[in-house]
Amino acid sequence: MSDKKKFYITTPIYYPSDNFHIGHCYTTIIADAIARYKRLEGYDTFFLTGTDEHGQKIQKKAEDKGISPKEYVDVIVENAKDLWKSLGISYDKFIRTTDNEHVLAVQKIFKKLYDQGDIYKGEYKGLYCTPCESFWTESQLDENGNCPDCHREVHEVSEEAYFFKLSKYQKRLEEFLESNPDFIQPISRKNEMLNNFIKPGLEDLCVSRTSFDWGIPVTFDDKHVVYVWIDALSNYISALGYLSEDESLFKKYWPADLHIVGKEIVRFHTIIWPIMLMALDLPLPKQVFGHGWLIINGGKISKSLGNYKDPREYISLYGVDAVRYFVLREVPFGNDGNFSEEALINRTNADLANVLGNLVNRTIGMINKYFDGIVIDKKINEDIDTELINFVLSLKDKIEDNMNNLEISVALDSIFEVYRRCNKYIDETMPWILAKDESKKDRLATVLYNLIESIRIATVYLQAFLPDTAKKIFTQINTDKIDYDSASTFGLYSGGTKVNTPEVLFKRIEKE
Ligand code: ME8
Ligand code: MG
Repeated sequence: MSDKKKFYITTPIYYPSDNFHIGHCYTTIIADAIARYKRLEGYDTFFLTGTDEHGQKIQKKAEDKGISPKEYVDVIVENAKDLWKSLGISYDKFIRTTDNEHVLAVQKIFKKLYDQGDIYKGEYKGLYCTPCESFWTESQLDENGNCPDCHREVHEVSEEAYFFKLSKYQKRLEEFLESNPDFIQPISRKNEMLNNFIKPGLEDLCVSRTSFDWGIPVTFDDKHVVYVWIDALSNYISALGYLSEDESLFKKYWPADLHIVGKEIVRFHTIIWPIMLMALDLPLPKQVFGHGWLIINGGKISKSLGNYKDPREYISLYGVDAVRYFVLREVPFGNDGNFSEEALINRTNADLANVLGNLVNRTIGMINKYFDGIVIDKKINEDIDTELINFVLSLKDKIEDNMNNLEISVALDSIFEVYRRCNKYIDETMPWILAKDESKKDRLATVLYNLIESIRIATVYLQAFLPDTAKKIFTQINTDKIDYDSASTFGLYSGGTKVNTPEVLFKRIEKE
């Protein structure tokens, strides 16, 4: 038995109605960086992602292609897994809502809620937009009486359906949210949920459909399939084997420590999901983080506008870590951020090539030039070294704070502040001047040692964000002191080590 602390983190399960775009990458890269950081810190981490495969929209898409829904999603899922591989996404499990284990769990959950009276049969009336898979009320329609989202025709639907008694749990949910102010992040979204959605009164939720059949059948009434959210949200527990023969992962990892979702589905994760869990008598997740959107030229990332490329094109043009760096760095906590290829190029050139690439290259170059590649600390220290060392060692607290507050972009920037500080240290100590004076040889060795050691320490943290680059740096500086604790002590880099030949980490990208 290990007594390590556990950490369970999830992304939404995305609809495989089309191939994924840079917006889906955004959430998944953030989750990956947090998961990697927690593993680095020593947590027993479980990172879940996957796909939400049922529903009318996917059924229609498959019909248009003349194939079954399962055949349709299989292709997209393969493509998604390939995309995650090329982005270095370190998930522990990829759940599909068509997995047998998930289907069985959802059926049991639905039956249990029905048996205890939390789900009941009623009639659903609404105006439905098929392409958007959304029901609307009269007052929500646009000025022509069409769907307010896509402005296409809606049609009236009335069907027998099952409902989930959200209303019954309203008070308990309010109390929970009031007494757990950190549950929804950023905090502003909590007030939005309480004031706009919960306090005005929760309506019971329609949780089954008879109008299409690409869904999980209700076991005791098989003309019904389970409708979206009960199916989708259950993934977070079915993936751990909840209600299966082997619940060991569930026992170990539930409740989730962090659900990361886009801001448009915070509502489902902070209202329906906690209520489902209350009804199942299960502990609630510890936190839901609703991040902002990546937008393009101020608007939506849109297939029909064709305003983006397959994310793999950016990876092959600029490298995986340029893409990871951009999405992790560009968008502040909870806000929207603009994506453009130009902004990606600017970030890559300014931070990755000029600051980081340059620093590593110059440092290793000087060690090769002045000491045949051997790094030795001669301990000829000056005040400026103490200042550098203190700055480098202060990184740990900054990163821990930033990561705990989910300020990923600030955490990443604090690493780059160290790299910038190192470049400044080079300008201040002027190794090329020291090199001209034989009596300054030991001082020169000390300066270069301090640089290598500062790079090593900052790069220990960088592993969570840009794993490929961190690996290359460790190879170039030739060290295996890369665990989390080793970054708390300055001076662990072994004297007498020979560095490897420098290789360019990031080429400057010339704009067309
Ligand atoms: O909502 N910027 O799936 P979905 C940032 N199946 N993030 C974006 C984004 C953008 N432009 N576009 C998409 C669903 N995302 C449900 C979820 S969970 C139990 C069920 C990300 O395919 C973001 O995380 O519409 C958003 O919440 C999610 O993809 C929506 O994916
Ligand atoms: Mg969506």
